Amino acid sequence: MLNQEQMDEFAERGFLVVPQVVGRDLLAAASGAIDRLIERDPPGPEVRGPHFYFPETARVPEFGALLTDSAAFALAESLTAPGTLEHPWQTQVALNIPPHPQRPGMHHIDGALYEPDGRPGTFTMLVGVLMSDQLERDGGNLWVWPGTHLTHARYFRDNGPEAFFTAAGYPPIALPEPEQVTGRAGDLLLAHYLLGHNIGDNVSPAVRRAVYFRVKRTGHDPRWRAFLQDPWLDYDRVRERTAPTAPTAPAERP
Ligand SMILES: [Fe+2]
Repeated sequence: MLNQEQMDEFAERGFLVVPQVVGRDLLAAASGAIDRLIERDPPGPEVRGPHFYFPETARVPEFGALLTDSAAFALAESLTAPGTLEHPWQTQVALNIPPHPQRPGMHHIDGALYEPDGRPGTFTMLVGVLMSDQLERDGGNLWVWPGTHLTHARYFRDNGPEAFFTAAGYPPIALPEPEQVTGRAGDLLLAHYLLGHNIGDNVSPAVRRAVYFRVKRTGHDPRWRAFLQDPWLDYDRVRERTAPTAPTAPAERP
């Protein structure tokens, strides 16, 4: 379970790093699975910066185990409620290959690749496991803009959820100073879907590795419009804490 301070931090900043959630054996097994993905389909010698693999989680059990054989999934559900999150069908392996000096100029939110029914690819929470130490900045770390989960929700309340399609992943909000997510291999990143983020630069000597899961709360899809406007719609436990000031989402359209 997350403690009160961690819950507050997630509510205010939209993300949280929980140290050393995934143990050495699970990390070693998943690292081996990443090695095999790279071996089978290596990035070209000219590739720098981000390089991704998107295996089905069921096909690489070592990735699903990062969530289910550690406390990771339960920690994520301590922000929503036990038994509320769906196991993600897909895993993202995110490499950042140096040298990649390009620093992001702005944020994005995911989901501008639409699903077959035209629904944006929104989800509840990004759950990440750091697979390499990234204690220093500019080492391929994920960049985040703290608090923008709330600013984005306000933007969609003011402009309506259909504004998602015009914004195409880049809602025009005022941005705070970005931060780079730092941590050790085995640390867990929990980030709200609406948190602005981007791929960082990597001027370190090492390839940065992370594994990400885009996790939905049961029943998320049909109420994506309400979720864009009410950031705690999927998050019962956070909602309970922020209830007195929580915004009321307008009724979902049929
Ligand atoms: Fe993204």
